Amino acid sequence: MIHIREITPDDAGKLLKLMEELDREADYLLFEPGERPMDEVALREHIRKLEPPRFGTFFVAEATVAPDTDIATPETDIATEFAGYLEVRRMPWVRVRHRAYLVIGILKRHGGKGVGTRLMQEVESWARKHGIRRLYLTLIAENKAAVALYRKMGYETEGRHPASMRLGDRFVEELTMGKWLD
Ligand SMILES: CC(C)(COP(=O)(O)OP(=O)(O)OC[C@H]1O[C@@H](n2cnc3c(N)ncnc32)[C@H](O)[C@@H]1OP(=O)(O)O)[C@@H](O)C(=O)NCCC(=O)NCCS
Repeated sequence: MIHIREITPDDAGKLLKLMEELDREADYLLFEPGERPMDEVALREHIRKLEPPRFGTFFVAEATVAPDTDIATPETDIATEFAGYLEVRRMPWVRVRHRAYLVIGILKRHGGKGVGTRLMQEVESWARKHGIRRLYLTLIAENKAAVALYRKMGYETEGRHPASMRLGDRFVEELTMGKWLD
């Protein structure tokens, strides 16, 4: 079972674990494994300073997982892990506070089951509630799963950026995609 909720500073450790696993397994994110510049303390402080919705927020998809022991105790009965997250970055200044930038990542073992769709729906209602009118993101053009998810959610390609990222020996194109919320 997957439960979508907004993050709190106390989730920093679990979120960092998720991000580091994504850095190891996902081909199309920003960081190579080991490059992520925040430790748990810094991430906790970062989440605290967001003051949602002022500077944005994170949504997490929390999955119930089977305990790795046969002995059931209250502690081992219910274990959870973060299956994915969606980061919303925003600035509160008058000229730009109508827009928010998104970053999403779902672990492979939880992929293709609608978690990305649910996170994108959640951020859309959160954005409407807080007067945000424009959601946008960047992605590597060859990331078929991401293109499919964003198109399905009504995002349109707004810009193309050739040789914008480097994957090994290849320089690859990035796209900006966005959606206007009526
Ligand atoms: C891109 C990503 C967020 C999709 O999340 P997800 O939970 O698998 O997405 P969903 O299950 O909600 O599927 C949404 C749509 O994406 C498409 N899709 C999902 N996985 C796909 C795949 N492997 N190949 C092609 N299309 C795929 C489907 O069209 C699906 O639409 P449908 O529900 O009509 O079938 C996820 O694959 C991911 O986090 N990848 C690694 C990190 C990353 O690349 N993030 C994006 C950076 S911009």
